[in-house]
Amino acid sequence: MQRFVTGIGDRDIENLTAFYASQPSRPADSAPGSARELAAKCDRCHDAEDNPKMVVPILRAQDKDYLVMALRSYRDDKRESTTMHKMSVIYSNAIIDDIATYYASQPRAKH
Ligand code: HEC
Repeated sequence: MQRFVTGIGDRDIENLTAFYASQPSRPADSAPGSARELAAKCDRCHDAEDNPKMVVPILRAQDKDYLVMALRSYRDDKRESTTMHKMSVIYSNAIIDDIATYYASQPRAKH
């Protein structure tokens, strides 16, 4: 899996930080507000400019059906995954569909 260096900048990181700082804590089973908000969480790993600890595949511009398949496989324990990743994928088919649609519609790289 090729790793892309993406154009996330200090501004984006500030925005993300502000977003998380403003989130009230809530029960793990409550639905996130939108695919975009959820994607901000995924992007901490999947769209990080510099992630020295692990190689993470880019999600943007991937085929939607592929993303849905991959996410359901993680959730249903049919695909090898890091523990952290498994914890982050606890979502319903509807949410998986939303997030896959979001990423499939994103440009492949910002620059
Ligand atoms: C803690 C870091 C981390 C977070 C947060 C995270 N992921 Fe991942 N993700 C990974 C890593 C590492 C891999 C590849 C290895 C693996 O399967 O664990 C991966 C793999 C994937 C894949 C498979 C991609 C491919 O090309 O096969 C999908 C789809 C995916 N993640 C979606 C998501 C979504 C959606 C979210 C947010 C709900 C998310 N991930 C949150 C680290 C993360």
